[in-house]
Amino acid sequence: MTIKDTTSFVDIHSHLVPGVDDGAADISSVLHSVGRMTRIGIRRILTTPHIRGSLTLDPDQLEMRLRDVTEAWERAADAIGEKYPDVEFRKGCEVLLDVPDADLSDGRIRMAGTSFVLIEWPSLKLPSGTVGILHKIIRCGYRPIVAHPERYSGMGEQFELVSEWREVGAYLQTNFGSLVGRYGGRAQATAYRLLRRGWVDYMASDFHGHAGLEIYKDEAAAALKALGAEDVFNVLCRTNPSRLLLDEAPLSAPLLPAEKGFWARFRANLNSHLA
Ligand SMILES: [Fe+2]
Repeated sequence: MTIKDTTSFVDIHSHLVPGVDDGAADISSVLHSVGRMTRIGIRRILTTPHIRGSLTLDPDQLEMRLRDVTEAWERAADAIGEKYPDVEFRKGCEVLLDVPDADLSDGRIRMAGTSFVLIEWPSLKLPSGTVGILHKIIRCGYRPIVAHPERYSGMGEQFELVSEWREVGAYLQTNFGSLVGRYGGRAQATAYRLLRRGWVDYMASDFHGHAGLEIYKDEAAAALKALGAEDVFNVLCRTNPSRLLLDEAPLSAPLLPAEKGFWARFRANLNSHLA
C-alpha cells in the first residue's frame, strides 16, 4: 500500500474491525470513529482486533478467525476509503498470550504484516516467565510490543522487570488515556515512570470505537507539552509508528525533562507509592 500522509499521527492500537471483538460493533461505528480520529489529526490507523494466542495452536480455528477478521476489515476499509479517502487503514492484531508459546508465523497476526506483533497478557496480570516468553518470540524472528504495560496490576512492585523485557529486545506501547488518569492513578503514575526512564516506544489510543469513549490523544499531547516534552510525543506517535509500518525499529524517545522543586519531589514520591 502507498503511504498517503507521512506527516500525520499514526495510531497503532485500536479496535475498529467491526463486529469481531469488543470494539466497534458495525460499519457506522467505524466511520464515526475514523471521523473523530481524523478531526484530531490521526489519518493513519493500524487497527488491532483481539486474538487469543491459544487459537494460533489450532490451524483450523485460526484460519476461520483470521478469515472472519480479514473480511470484516476489508468491508471497513472499503467504507473508509469512500468516505475518508485520505485515511490509511491497516490491520494487525492484539495477541492475548493465554499460552506461552503462541505461533506468530502467520503475517495476518502481526502489525501490517511486518515483524512487529502487539501482545498482552490475560486479565492485566503478569504471569511468571514474561522475560522468557518475550525472548522466545524474538528468537523466532518477531518483534514484540507489550501493549499498555502501565495497566498491569502489581507493575509498581515489578517495575524493574521492564528493563529485562527491554534488554531482550521487547518494545513498549502506552495508552494516551493512561497519561491523563483514564485507568486510575496507579496506571498514570506508572506511565510517567516508564516515560521518565525512556522505556516507552509508542503511544496509541487503544480506542474501542464506542461513542461514549474518548481517544485522549490531544489530552496526552497537552500533558506532555506542559512538561516541555512535545518532542517525546512526536517520536512516540509520529516517528516510531511510521517506522513500524516500514518494519523499522523505533528510535529512542528523548527523556522527559526532570521535574524540579518541592512539589515535584512530593509528586514523585506519591507516584512511586501509587505505582
Ligand atoms: Fe487493545
